[in-house]
Amino acid sequence: MLSPLDRALLEMSRARAGLAIATDRETREAHAGDESGLPPVVPAAVIAARDADDVAAVLRSASDAGVTVTPRGGGSGKAGGAIPDDDGLALVLTGLDRELEIHAGDRIAVAGAGVVLARVREAARAERLFYGPDPSSLESATIGGNVATNASGPSSLRHGSTARWVRGLEVVTGAGTVLSMPSRVAKSTVGFDLPAIFTGSEGTLGVVTRVFLRLEPEPARLALATVSLSALEAIGPALVAIDRARLAPRAIELLDDEALTTLRAARTDHGLDPRAVAILFVELEGSEAGVDEDLSRLDEAVHALAVDVRLARNESEREALWKIRRDTSLALKRSAAHKLSEDVVVPRSRVGDLVASCRRLGAHHGVRMPSYGHAGDGNLHVNFLWDEPGQRGQVDRAMDALFREVLALGGTLSGEHGLGRAKAAYLPLAHEPARLEAERALKRLFDPAGILNRGKVLPDA
Ligand code: LAC
Ligand code: ZN
Repeated sequence: MLSPLDRALLEMSRARAGLAIATDRETREAHAGDESGLPPVVPAAVIAARDADDVAAVLRSASDAGVTVTPRGGGSGKAGGAIPDDDGLALVLTGLDRELEIHAGDRIAVAGAGVVLARVREAARAERLFYGPDPSSLESATIGGNVATNASGPSSLRHGSTARWVRGLEVVTGAGTVLSMPSRVAKSTVGFDLPAIFTGSEGTLGVVTRVFLRLEPEPARLALATVSLSALEAIGPALVAIDRARLAPRAIELLDDEALTTLRAARTDHGLDPRAVAILFVELEGSEAGVDEDLSRLDEAVHALAVDVRLARNESEREALWKIRRDTSLALKRSAAHKLSEDVVVPRSRVGDLVASCRRLGAHHGVRMPSYGHAGDGNLHVNFLWDEPGQRGQVDRAMDALFREVLALGGTLSGEHGLGRAKAAYLPLAHEPARLEAERALKRLFDPAGILNRGKVLPDA
């Protein structure tokens, strides 16, 4: 009698000649974790797909045998979405990287799911076009993984998350059916928006194999200003003042007092104002003249609240400032033995309240809780830093309290990283029962055997 795993592997390799199946320890260990900080789980086998037909054969065989499959792109996820099961398969999509076409006249990009995001952005730029989402992991994350997690980054303030850029998809459902949903048009009102259902579903409904993306003209000019605030209490009013000035920045990023203290201690705060208690990075985009006008309106808007407003003088200074922001996560990680990072989101007007809550909860539970990130979107990376393993209980209580606080502020549990394995158990806290049942019904429809990325997003599937 073959085990379900052996049966699935035999069936899929019969269906697809030359399918790459690895069962050696080294390969399996290399596909066991992600960047969530959650413990890795070594899968039973690793399969490298070459195309959608490979993916379909894998999912059909796995469904028949009841073996779980965890799809995987660049492995840069922060919520444990790509952590497999120990008796399941890791399905690697990075080999789907041969197709990358820019249809400049139609402002559409078509790419295989395994193409790394930076390549998509560069190919668009070569045509003076622009693909919006810019997560920090853009050099390693795949476009398929970005669609699966509905990824975003600083410029999503103006340009939205990945969902706003997806025009069409090819996905393979959990049952192994290839759903081809191409689009090369700017808009359509034909049938249900199925690609939207798969976008952000974290590989629980289907595996993205091909993407059709919207592109935009590249803005003529970018300018980055740092706004140094002398008190945490100025964060909320500064965001309100920027809104009132009718500015629409490309990004508004925050470093709070604890994040700044850590950067200063590590001496990675090059060029940031030493008087600042919190800093906003405000990036503007537009025409040459438009950006000049926006900069003076920004200066005027935050003048009374800021100790300094400084403009990056050239491209290298702009890049250096962004590097400080991008490396914040790493600097925080190095400053403590243990780190967990959340990405809660609140209505924009409540960001000041969220930072204040973090201070209060951190003091109450005895945990360092620096926050930084996408303040303009109300989406902060609230970190939990601790040194003694015995503090883990305090961290869990502080995190639980944070989630409840965020929901009470009218926000939700994740703005960009998804629920993955890390937060699946909290979904019932955020979604009412009828909505949860509709989500479960979708899962049953597209993945009837329940083999696709089990234990992610939905707490019990
Ligand atoms: C960032 C990642 C952690 O914003 O989302 O740096
Ligand atoms: Zn982020």
